[in-house]
Parts: sequence; structure tokens; C-alpha cells
Amino acid sequence: MVQSLEVRGRTPAQIRLRRRFLRFVPIRAGQRVLEVGCGSGVVVRDLAARVGPRGEVVGIDSSRSMVEAARVLARTHALRHRMRWRVAPGAALPFAGGRFDAALAITVLLHVADPEAVVREMVRVTRPGGRVGVQDQDFGTVAVTHPDRALTERIMWGVATHMYEEPHSGRRMPALLRGAGLGDVRLLTDVFQDTTLEPFAKSFLERRAENAVRFGIADAPAAQKWLDGFTELVARGDFVLTFNYYGAVGVKSHGGPRKVRPTR
Ligand SMILES: C[S@@+](CC[C@H](N)C(=O)[O-])C[C@H]1O[C@@H](n2cnc3c(N)ncnc32)[C@H](O)[C@@H]1O
Repeated sequence: MVQSLEVRGRTPAQIRLRRRFLRFVPIRAGQRVLEVGCGSGVVVRDLAARVGPRGEVVGIDSSRSMVEAARVLARTHALRHRMRWRVAPGAALPFAGGRFDAALAITVLLHVADPEAVVREMVRVTRPGGRVGVQDQDFGTVAVTHPDRALTERIMWGVATHMYEEPHSGRRMPALLRGAGLGDVRLLTDVFQDTTLEPFAKSFLERRAENAVRFGIADAPAAQKWLDGFTELVARGDFVLTFNYYGAVGVKSHGGPRKVRPTR
């Protein structure tokens, strides 16, 4: 898992997606920022560069081994003194109210059974006027070239429904933030695209094939044949894989009545 998050983290299209979202929030110099579900620390390391010398970034994750891996990876990073790490569940954050200028959760909420509880906590620890930002893939938007369309759809959707609490999480981001009482909710839709089967896309499809076997969607020879189908497309230059990322941000009110406006 650490390895696959790091491979994803250094994929150029993923770097662009992540940075566009951090600019959209926006994260600025001098801020104190929390990332919930920090994994191996890919986003925390980006945030450390954005918050500058007077800023601070705290990464929390419910997995102790993830936090340990993030700590080890950060140990030799030039900006390590701007990063803090804690093991904690997103639905019970170990911080006082209003401690952060911004709280983010990036590709986390689709894994969570009760995302409302996590967002509620993110709102609590954000100061009035601060921002809560969430970004998730939406696995209802996967488009990929393959000669066997029916099997591709069965594998893509079948595996996603087994792997994620909410495979359509991405499109629910604005409603989740408005439901938590945030104002001025804005949405940024972005697209991941790969046409060369880079290491991230390759391991994404290999994991889909493995899980298709595990969940009884295809047998092992069919899953291998399905994977080989991509290799042929890549060789001909006809491979395309895209899926959408939805990033939403909202502002915590100062306590006055909240104006409910449609998402921009
Ligand atoms: C796909 S990783 C994302 C890591 C990082 N945000 C990134 O984009 O590279 C999801 C992470 O969320 C963590 N996670 C899942 N549910 C959580 C929860 N309820 N509270 C805190 N962390 C959680 C997992 O342990 C995992 O490390």
C-alpha cells in the first residue's frame, strides 16, 4: 500500500491533479493545515512546501503502519520540521476546536463508512473563516479502452463496489460539505488521464484483475487475458484510461446564519 501510494504520488498527472486542488482550496503561506488520512505522506510533503517557513502541516491516519512509513519517508525531507504526524481516526480528531486554518481529506472518504462523521470533525477543528477541502476519485467515471467492453465494465464496477464504501464518493463531495454546515461550497472537477500505461495505471489495472479473481468476477485465465488486452492496445498506441476527481471546498461560518447557495 505504501509503495502504491508513492508510485501514484510521483505520477506526473497525479502531481498536477493534487497541486491544482491545493491551489483551488487555496492553501497559503503561514497556514496551519491538517490532512486526514495522510497515508504515506504524499500530500503532507506537498503541503509543507505551500505553507512556507511559518506554516505547519499535521498528517493523521488511522493506520499506525501508514503513519510510521510517512515518518520514515519524511525523515530525510528538507521541510520535515514543518510536518507533524499522529495516529488517529478521522471521526475522533485529537485536537481542540478551531486549531487549523484548513482541514483536508484527499482520496480518503470513499474508504470510510461514515464520511459525515469525519467531515464533522474536520469542521470542528477548523477555525471560523477557515476551509474544509475534500477530494475523491469517482469510480463511476472510469473510461478505458479494451476489446472486451462487457468484461471490462463487469470488472471495473464489480471490483469498485467491493473495494470502496462509496465508489461514487467523488460526485457527493459538495453535498457532504453543505450537509456539514459549510458555506460558499465550490467544486473542482479534474480528470486523470493516461495513454501510455505508466506504472500507476499498470498497477491500478493489475490490482483490478487480481481483485476480479478474488471477488469471483472472473477466473484467473480470463483476468490474465483481460490484462493482456491492454498490452496490445498500448503497443498500437490506442490505450486510453481516464477517470474523474471531484474536489470540493467550503468555508466554516463565524457563527451567524449561513447563506445556502448552490455549488459553484
Ligand atoms: C488512499 S490513502 C490516501 C493517502 C493520501 N491522502 C494520498 O492521497 O496519498 C487513504 C488513507 O486513509 C486512511 N484512512 C481510511 N479511513 C480512515 C479514517 N476513518 N480515519 C483516518 N484515516 C483513514 C487509510 O489508512 C489510508 O492511509
